[in-house]
Amino acid sequence: MGKSLNCLISAGPTREWIDPVRFISNPSSGKMGYALASEAHKRNFKVNLVSGPVLLPIEKGIDVTYVESAEEMSIAMMTQFNEADLIIMCAAVCDHKPKEMWGQKKKKADFPTSIEFVSTKDILYELGKRKKENQKLIGFAAETESCEQNAKKKLNLKNLDWIALNDVSIKDIGFESDLNEITLYSNSEQKVKLSIASKEKLAAQIFDIITK
Ligand code: C5P
Repeated sequence: MGKSLNCLISAGPTREWIDPVRFISNPSSGKMGYALASEAHKRNFKVNLVSGPVLLPIEKGIDVTYVESAEEMSIAMMTQFNEADLIIMCAAVCDHKPKEMWGQKKKKADFPTSIEFVSTKDILYELGKRKKENQKLIGFAAETESCEQNAKKKLNLKNLDWIALNDVSIKDIGFESDLNEITLYSNSEQKVKLSIASKEKLAAQIFDIITK
Protein backbone atom coordinates (compact mmCIF):
# COMPACT_ATOMS: atom_id res chain seq x y z
CA MET A 1 0.00 0.00 0.00
CA GLY A 2 1.26 3.50 -0.81
CA LYS A 3 2.10 6.08 1.83
CA SER A 4 -0.89 8.14 2.88
CA LEU A 5 -0.85 11.83 1.96
CA ASN A 6 -0.26 14.55 4.55
CA CYS A 7 -2.88 17.20 5.13
CA LEU A 8 -2.03 20.30 7.16
CA ILE A 9 -4.99 22.37 8.35
CA SER A 10 -5.23 25.52 10.47
CA ALA A 11 -8.38 26.33 12.42
CA GLY A 12 -9.82 28.79 14.91
CA PRO A 13 -8.89 32.34 15.81
CA THR A 14 -5.60 33.73 17.05
CA ARG A 15 -5.20 35.84 20.18
CA GLU A 16 -2.99 38.87 20.29
CA TRP A 17 -2.30 39.82 23.88
CA ILE A 18 -2.34 43.41 25.12
CA ASP A 19 -1.35 42.57 28.70
CA PRO A 20 -1.60 39.33 30.76
CA VAL A 21 -5.41 39.63 31.06
CA ARG A 22 -6.50 41.22 27.77
CA PHE A 23 -6.26 40.26 24.12
CA ILE A 24 -7.83 41.06 20.75
CA SER A 25 -9.29 38.22 18.73
CA ASN A 26 -12.36 37.36 16.63
CA PRO A 27 -15.41 35.08 17.03
CA SER A 28 -14.07 32.13 15.00
CA SER A 29 -15.30 28.89 16.61
CA GLY A 30 -12.93 26.59 14.72
CA LYS A 31 -15.86 24.44 13.56
CA MET A 32 -15.11 24.69 9.83
CA GLY A 33 -11.42 23.84 10.26
CA TYR A 34 -12.17 20.96 12.63
CA ALA A 35 -14.79 19.60 10.20
CA LEU A 36 -12.18 19.72 7.42
CA ALA A 37 -9.67 17.91 9.64
CA SER A 38 -12.23 15.23 10.42
CA GLU A 39 -13.09 14.80 6.73
CA ALA A 40 -9.40 14.55 5.79
CA HIS A 41 -8.95 11.88 8.45
CA LYS A 42 -11.94 9.94 7.08
CA ARG A 43 -10.29 10.02 3.67
CA ASN A 44 -7.10 8.48 5.04
CA PHE A 45 -4.92 11.55 5.03
CA LYS A 46 -2.40 11.85 7.83
CA VAL A 47 -3.79 14.99 9.45
CA ASN A 48 -1.89 17.72 11.29
CA LEU A 49 -4.19 20.33 12.73
CA VAL A 50 -2.81 23.66 13.92
CA SER A 51 -5.47 25.04 16.22
CA GLY A 52 -6.01 28.42 17.81
CA PRO A 53 -7.87 28.50 21.16
CA VAL A 54 -11.30 26.85 20.63
CA LEU A 55 -13.61 24.67 22.69
CA LEU A 56 -13.81 21.64 20.40
CA PRO A 57 -12.74 18.05 21.03
CA ILE A 58 -9.99 16.48 18.95
CA GLU A 59 -10.84 13.31 17.10
CA LYS A 60 -8.59 10.33 17.74
CA GLY A 61 -5.97 9.93 15.03
CA ILE A 62 -5.57 13.65 14.33
CA ASP A 63 -2.31 15.27 15.43
CA VAL A 64 -2.84 18.70 16.89
CA THR A 65 -0.54 21.61 17.66
CA TYR A 66 -2.20 24.23 19.87
CA VAL A 67 -1.17 27.83 19.30
CA GLU A 68 -2.37 31.24 20.44
CA SER A 69 -0.83 34.10 18.49
CA ALA A 70 -0.43 34.62 14.74
CA GLU A 71 3.32 34.37 15.32
CA GLU A 72 2.97 30.93 16.94
CA MET A 73 0.60 29.79 14.21
CA SER A 74 3.06 30.95 11.58
CA ILE A 75 5.89 28.94 13.17
CA ALA A 76 3.71 25.79 13.44
CA MET A 77 2.54 26.06 9.82
CA MET A 78 6.01 26.81 8.42
CA THR A 79 7.56 23.91 10.35
CA GLN A 80 5.08 21.38 8.98
CA PHE A 81 4.59 22.84 5.51
CA ASN A 82 7.31 20.98 3.58
CA GLU A 83 5.91 17.59 4.60
CA ALA A 84 2.36 18.46 3.57
CA ASP A 85 0.70 17.52 0.29
CA LEU A 86 -2.51 19.44 0.92
CA ILE A 87 -2.58 22.59 3.05
CA ILE A 88 -5.82 24.29 4.11
CA MET A 89 -5.52 27.62 5.89
CA CYS A 90 -8.93 27.94 7.52
CA ALA A 91 -7.85 29.88 10.62
CA ALA A 92 -9.14 33.39 11.24
CA VAL A 93 -5.72 34.90 11.86
CA CYS A 94 -5.72 38.35 13.47
CA ASP A 95 -4.31 40.81 10.97
CA HIS A 96 -3.06 43.12 13.71
CA LYS A 97 -1.38 42.83 17.07
CA PRO A 98 -0.53 45.43 19.71
CA LYS A 99 2.89 46.95 19.01
CA GLU A 100 3.93 46.03 22.54
CA MET A 101 2.57 43.65 25.13
CA TRP A 102 2.70 45.00 28.68
CA GLY A 103 4.24 42.54 31.11
CA GLN A 104 1.87 43.54 33.93
CA LYS A 105 -1.89 44.05 33.99
CA LYS A 106 -2.58 47.67 33.05
CA LYS A 107 -4.63 49.29 35.84
CA LYS A 108 -8.01 50.67 34.85
CA ALA A 109 -6.92 54.24 35.56
CA ASP A 110 -3.71 53.82 33.53
CA PHE A 111 -5.32 52.23 30.50
CA PRO A 112 -4.60 54.36 27.43
CA THR A 113 -7.34 55.75 25.18
CA SER A 114 -5.57 54.31 22.16
CA ILE A 115 -3.28 51.39 21.48
CA GLU A 116 -0.79 51.17 18.64
CA PHE A 117 -1.15 48.13 16.41
CA VAL A 118 1.22 46.56 13.89
CA SER A 119 0.45 44.02 11.15
CA THR A 120 0.95 40.34 11.77
CA LYS A 121 2.63 38.21 9.13
CA ASP A 122 0.30 36.95 6.39
CA ILE A 123 0.94 33.24 6.90
CA LEU A 124 -0.91 32.09 3.79
CA TYR A 125 0.98 34.56 1.60
CA GLU A 126 4.26 33.19 2.94
CA LEU A 127 3.11 29.60 2.34
CA GLY A 128 2.07 30.55 -1.22
CA LYS A 129 5.61 31.79 -1.91
CA ARG A 130 7.06 28.46 -0.71
CA LYS A 131 4.53 26.21 -2.46
CA LYS A 132 6.02 23.48 -4.64
CA GLU A 133 4.56 21.80 -7.77
CA ASN A 134 3.25 18.79 -5.87
CA GLN A 135 1.53 20.81 -3.13
CA LYS A 136 -2.04 22.09 -3.11
CA LEU A 137 -2.77 25.23 -1.11
CA ILE A 138 -6.29 26.28 -0.12
CA GLY A 139 -7.32 29.51 1.59
CA PHE A 140 -10.49 30.97 3.02
CA ALA A 141 -11.89 34.46 2.59
CA ALA A 142 -14.52 35.93 4.87
CA GLU A 143 -15.89 38.99 3.10
CA THR A 144 -18.69 41.48 3.63
CA GLU A 145 -18.53 43.37 0.32
CA SER A 146 -17.24 42.92 -3.26
CA CYS A 147 -16.92 39.29 -2.18
CA GLU A 148 -16.10 37.58 -5.48
CA GLN A 149 -13.66 40.29 -6.52
CA ASN A 150 -11.83 40.19 -3.16
CA ALA A 151 -11.71 36.39 -3.07
CA LYS A 152 -10.23 36.20 -6.58
CA LYS A 153 -7.67 38.86 -5.69
CA LYS A 154 -6.55 36.79 -2.68
CA LEU A 155 -6.46 33.59 -4.74
CA ASN A 156 -3.91 35.22 -7.08
CA LEU A 157 -1.97 37.26 -4.53
CA LYS A 158 -1.46 34.29 -2.20
CA ASN A 159 -0.72 31.79 -5.04
CA LEU A 160 -3.58 29.45 -4.05
CA ASP A 161 -5.10 26.52 -5.90
CA TRP A 162 -8.53 27.19 -4.43
CA ILE A 163 -10.13 29.81 -2.24
CA ALA A 164 -13.32 29.23 -0.24
CA LEU A 165 -15.37 32.37 0.05
CA ASN A 166 -17.96 32.94 2.72
CA ASP A 167 -20.02 36.07 2.77
CA VAL A 168 -20.10 36.90 6.48
CA SER A 169 -22.62 39.70 5.97
CA ILE A 170 -25.33 37.02 5.60
CA LYS A 171 -26.99 36.49 8.98
CA ASP A 172 -26.88 33.00 10.59
CA ILE A 173 -23.93 31.61 8.63
CA GLY A 174 -20.17 31.72 9.06
CA PHE A 175 -18.13 32.34 12.22
CA GLU A 176 -19.88 30.80 15.27
CA SER A 177 -22.70 29.11 13.35
CA ASP A 178 -23.04 25.37 12.63
CA LEU A 179 -24.01 26.31 9.09
CA ASN A 180 -22.05 27.88 6.30
CA GLU A 181 -22.40 28.80 2.65
CA ILE A 182 -19.34 28.66 0.47
CA THR A 183 -18.30 29.45 -3.06
CA LEU A 184 -15.06 27.91 -4.27
CA TYR A 185 -12.84 29.59 -6.88
CA SER A 186 -9.85 27.88 -8.48
CA ASN A 187 -6.71 29.24 -10.13
CA SER A 188 -7.99 27.66 -13.35
CA GLU A 189 -11.13 29.85 -13.33
CA GLN A 190 -13.52 27.25 -11.94
CA LYS A 191 -16.34 28.46 -9.72
CA VAL A 192 -18.40 26.08 -7.60
CA LYS A 193 -21.22 27.34 -5.40
CA LEU A 194 -22.11 25.11 -2.45
CA SER A 195 -25.46 25.84 -0.91
CA ILE A 196 -26.07 26.45 2.77
CA ALA A 197 -25.34 23.30 4.80
CA SER A 198 -23.69 22.03 7.95
CA LYS A 199 -19.95 22.59 8.15
CA GLU A 200 -19.47 18.78 8.13
CA LYS A 201 -21.37 18.40 4.87
CA LEU A 202 -19.53 21.34 3.33
CA ALA A 203 -16.18 19.86 4.40
CA ALA A 204 -17.03 16.68 2.47
CA GLN A 205 -18.08 18.67 -0.61
CA ILE A 206 -14.93 20.79 -0.42
CA PHE A 207 -12.77 17.64 -0.32
CA ASP A 208 -14.66 16.15 -3.28
CA ILE A 209 -13.80 19.24 -5.30
CA ILE A 210 -10.24 20.05 -4.24
CA THR A 211 -9.01 16.47 -4.47
CA LYS A 212 -10.62 15.75 -7.86
O1 C5P B 1 -6.42 38.53 3.37
P1 C5P B 1 -7.35 37.76 4.26
O2 C5P B 1 -7.00 37.85 5.70
O3 C5P B 1 -8.79 38.03 4.05
O4 C5P B 1 -7.14 36.25 3.76
C1 C5P B 1 -7.76 35.20 4.36
C2 C5P B 1 -6.90 33.97 4.25
O5 C5P B 1 -5.57 34.27 4.63
C3 C5P B 1 -7.37 32.87 5.18
O6 C5P B 1 -7.09 31.63 4.57
C4 C5P B 1 -6.50 33.10 6.42
O7 C5P B 1 -6.31 31.90 7.13
C5 C5P B 1 -5.20 33.60 5.82
N1 C5P B 1 -4.45 34.56 6.66
C6 C5P B 1 -3.17 34.24 7.09
N2 C5P B 1 -2.45 35.13 7.85
C7 C5P B 1 -2.97 36.33 8.16
C8 C5P B 1 -4.27 36.67 7.74
C9 C5P B 1 -4.99 35.76 7.00
O8 C5P B 1 -2.69 33.15 6.80
N3 C5P B 1 -2.25 37.18 8.91
